[in-house]
Amino acid sequence: MNLERNKFYITTPIYYVNDKPHIGTGYTTLAADVLARLHRQLGEDVYFLTGTAEHGSKVAESAEKAGLNIQEFVDEYAAKFSLAWDELTIAPDDFIRTTEERHIRAVNLFFTKLKDSGKLYEGDYEGWYCVGCESFKKESELVNGVCPLHNRKPEWIKERNWFFKLSEFASILKEKIETDEFRIFPLARKNEVLSFINQGLEDIAVSRRTAKFAMPLPWDKEQTIYVWLDELFNYCSAIGYESDRKKFDKYWPADFHIIGKDIIKFHCIIWPALLLAIGEQLPRAVYAHGFFTVNGQKMSKSLGNVMDPVALAHQYGSDAVRYFLLREVPFGQDGDVSEEKLKERYNADLANGLGNLFSRVTNMMEKYLDGDLGDARVSPKDLSEVSEAFHSLNFSEGLVKIWEAIAWANQLIDKSKPWELVKTEPKKVKELLLSLGALLYDIALKLSPVMPETANKIKTALEQEKIMKPAQPLFPKIE
Ligand code: MSP
Repeated sequence: MNLERNKFYITTPIYYVNDKPHIGTGYTTLAADVLARLHRQLGEDVYFLTGTAEHGSKVAESAEKAGLNIQEFVDEYAAKFSLAWDELTIAPDDFIRTTEERHIRAVNLFFTKLKDSGKLYEGDYEGWYCVGCESFKKESELVNGVCPLHNRKPEWIKERNWFFKLSEFASILKEKIETDEFRIFPLARKNEVLSFINQGLEDIAVSRRTAKFAMPLPWDKEQTIYVWLDELFNYCSAIGYESDRKKFDKYWPADFHIIGKDIIKFHCIIWPALLLAIGEQLPRAVYAHGFFTVNGQKMSKSLGNVMDPVALAHQYGSDAVRYFLLREVPFGQDGDVSEEKLKERYNADLANGLGNLFSRVTNMMEKYLDGDLGDARVSPKDLSEVSEAFHSLNFSEGLVKIWEAIAWANQLIDKSKPWELVKTEPKKVKELLLSLGALLYDIALKLSPVMPETANKIKTALEQEKIMKPAQPLFPKIE
């Protein structure tokens, strides 16, 4: 009998430490956390990885600006990320930093294998480089001579570099994507990647002569490793690529790389081609979600509209922020968020919706059943579609289903008026309350990957032998 549990390896991008976490980076990490929790519920052996990208000119420039020594700077920012995930009840199994020894050794081995594969050659590079993106840019990707993503003029670079024969991988990548051996979600992103491949792939430079704070190439100390290749490899280095082959074989290939749509070419073209070159399996799936705007505008430091998920969690509670981010915008699409919208959802969906249902049911149970929960009842609503939606990363769809059940239950209470009915038909009231209790319990189970603390509070209250009136409402109204 095979007692080995199914494994589930899920990752987020590793974030640049030139900035503290914002709701964009929080969003990706939260989605991965929800999936990790869902799969843990199934008893799978889950490995949820996140971390920070600490090498390269972008980070070095930020440290300079802050007047800090680079190591101090990256330590400080990596800690900010780790702390932020804590505050959002995000619980990764591992947090990798590209300045860690385990990563550096794995990247060295990776580059040695890449060179041995015969897919690298020396050549001259001349072209634009955007430090904001840490990426080379074609003339056609610039708008009025500046990188539209970072609003800054790229540098013209002319240097001798090592190149990777990406162009050779076009047809094999195409086949693996078309046949869904390597899956890309949502469909629009898959098509975007395929059309990009169809335009023809060019070889890419994988080393730099002028980059700051980057790893030297193992065989050519004049050159540093292009940061994006160093970063992509975190997915392998974290699970023991260099140090623990058994662990690596257990978790690789990744089941899901969750990313934002901005870094799709790196994850859906360059990354699989590199893995093919060194003879490793491809990740099973990449999911690229959309981008948040804030009040209709791009979120940026200079506009001063960056939303800080930690500050929001302090004010509204971490579960409320988690609910809002996943409910407000269908995963995969772009969408607009604001604190105003969060407050509206908090009051309408959480305080008046779920919070109200919970306090009504538990109060009436205490009053009319004398706290006696009796035998378990079957929930009057079937919520099985919720898990299906969550497993397909349709978080908002799943949450809508739960909130339909909440609205139904609140209306049922309004209509049946147990406080009057109890005078004439106490048995009916008992049945009603027990069945609503069963529904609430099921809601808590289904909701727990998204709102773990709230789910625990509900479950704890309903699991007691005698129901006790909760001391605090789940979501006190916010004016
Ligand atoms: N270091 C690279 C990733 C390397 S992964 C091998 C990087 N880092 S980043 O700090 O710039 O993070 C980019 C990611 O942050 C996006 O892919 C996305 O997950 C998230 N987001 C950044 N801004 C965002 C929004 N405005 N909206 C939603 N997500 C956003 O790229």
